[in-house]
Amino acid sequence: MLSETMTNAINDQIKWELYSGYMYLSMSAYFSDLGLNGFAHWMRLQGQEELEHAMKFYDFVLERGGKITLQAVDAPPNAWQSPLDAFEETLKHEQLVTSRINDLVNMAIDERDHATNIFLQWFVTEQVEEEASVGEAVDKLKLVGEGGEGLFMIDKEMGMRTMSAAEAA
Ligand code: FEO
Repeated sequence: MLSETMTNAINDQIKWELYSGYMYLSMSAYFSDLGLNGFAHWMRLQGQEELEHAMKFYDFVLERGGKITLQAVDAPPNAWQSPLDAFEETLKHEQLVTSRINDLVNMAIDERDHATNIFLQWFVTEQVEEEASVGEAVDKLKLVGEGGEGLFMIDKEMGMRTMSAAEAA
């Protein structure tokens, strides 16, 4: 059985994951508007992964006999200054999510809630992967600057993203 504190914290995290999905969908629309369909595809998949994250937490709460209390999800921004700006915001957002996951792990350890701690390890690993892939995109965008041929090459590459094996499982 989950403690009330842990249940509340995970319910909060469900909102964060849903907000992440919402923000990446908004970024996907932003990239579609720019005609950068590869980036739009990448962000759309990223958004879908976030919804999967929310559902992992949701299922876990139910499995452990906790109560789901869904919260209001904020509206995300709908414009960014540049593709680089959008990816820098993505990196900042993922770093924030990582710190939230770490807080949950600390709470599980404090409560000696081993099941929740083990469950959270998947997210710890996932955050390493997410920060790395977003960081790589930021580096590439910095390298090519604001436009031109380099941007279209990265767009093409981003368009080849498939759902990660871990997510598909
Ligand atoms: Fe669900 Fe991107 O962290």
